[in-house]
Amino acid sequence: MANRIILNETSYHGAGAIGHLVDEVRSRQFKKAFVVTDKELVKFNVVEKVTRLLDEAGLPYEIFDEVKANPSVEVIKQGVAKFKASGADYLIAIGGGSPIDSSKAIGIIIDNPEFSDVLSLEGVAPTRNKCVPIIAIPTTAGTAAEVTINYVITDEEKKRKFVCVDVHDVPIVALVDPEMMESMPKGLTAATGMDALTHAIEGYTTKAAWALTDALHLEAIRLISSSLRGAVENTKEGREGMALGQYVAGMGFSNVGLGIVHSMAHPLSAYYDTPHGIANAVLLPYVLAFNARATGEKFREIARAMGVKGVDDMSQEEYRQAAIDAVKQLSHDVGIPEKLHMIGVKEEDLVSLSQDALKDVCTGGNPRDCTAEEILEIYKTAF
Ligand SMILES: NC(=O)c1ccc[n+]([C@@H]2O[C@H](COP(=O)([O-])OP(=O)(O)OC[C@H]3O[C@@H](n4cnc5c(N)ncnc54)[C@H](O)[C@@H]3O)[C@@H](O)[C@H]2O)c1
Ligand SMILES: [Fe+2]
Repeated sequence: MANRIILNETSYHGAGAIGHLVDEVRSRQFKKAFVVTDKELVKFNVVEKVTRLLDEAGLPYEIFDEVKANPSVEVIKQGVAKFKASGADYLIAIGGGSPIDSSKAIGIIIDNPEFSDVLSLEGVAPTRNKCVPIIAIPTTAGTAAEVTINYVITDEEKKRKFVCVDVHDVPIVALVDPEMMESMPKGLTAATGMDALTHAIEGYTTKAAWALTDALHLEAIRLISSSLRGAVENTKEGREGMALGQYVAGMGFSNVGLGIVHSMAHPLSAYYDTPHGIANAVLLPYVLAFNARATGEKFREIARAMGVKGVDDMSQEEYRQAAIDAVKQLSHDVGIPEKLHMIGVKEEDLVSLSQDALKDVCTGGNPRDCTAEEILEIYKTAF
């Protein structure tokens, strides 16, 4: 079977990347932007860094800032209605995964109105048309939603998060500018950064991984593990390494899938509104211990990419443990709690959490097949 890679048409990387916005808009002859973002980003003047460029160039836009973390079906419906009323012909998404994912769902529904209920987009939706063109500007270094073909929506009524996979939703342009991420507080930098590390590791070990995505994921693991501590301290090098590292991870995992860290993290956000990156970070070492036996030599390369010395002289057991220890150390250094009970998870929910996790679209990609009982055991160990 041939392998497929889908990426942005154009992406810009490094400080000043947002300076390419106006040229991109003009060369594509877009008329009016619908800017999808959230209120915090407006309040902290992050959105203003972008709208200032539009204002100076005389390019019209309308702001939709109703997105909340872990965006809901209702917010998407609201966005679709506002987009229609705005007369816009393209989207600019400014934010973390939540605004970028929202822009994807809005853009898909505008051009594929038969999916207006939002819920029917779950999984691989058979949409026929490309979404409204999106220019994505990430403000966190984590989800890589600016380059992925996925988005995640929360069904608040049923308390569940669902993943949508659609080749028609990938933003045409990504402006990945570390200066857009400088205002992130320490905790958010750590959480979103650990999400990126989880993408890189799950993408590297997922069932569909192949040579090209392996190269991307190993480079992502190297960049993220050498940059995240610095990013949390807001150093220039740390921010640059994380902006690039999370994107490179996205180039990979978007095309091959993830594993049960994500399957187990999604219900935590749906039940308790746990930030996605925190949920992943707490679960990651426990899932690695469970998966190790199904990963051949790969943990040796993970340990090497994370800077562990002497991996070539280690036994299989030693390098597998070394990889897990390196992940735990990084998590600890950036202030992530070690156990689920510390982040508000309730013991009485573990059974239903594991049933939901088993059904998640990411479960099929996990390197080791698993049952609801095994997932429950991992939750219990992590509790
Ligand atoms: N599309 C994908 O492939 C993909 C992958 C992983 C996760 N996700 C989804 O993305 C969402 C999480 O996204 P996220 O972790 O990027 O966070 P987010 O977009 O939910 O934002 C979290 C908070 O951080 C704030 N924030 C964002 N950037 C900031 C900045 N520069 N300065 C100050 N505050 C800032 C926001 O205002 C918000 O309050 C979840 O719904 C998750 O399931 C999507
Ligand atoms: Fe993620």
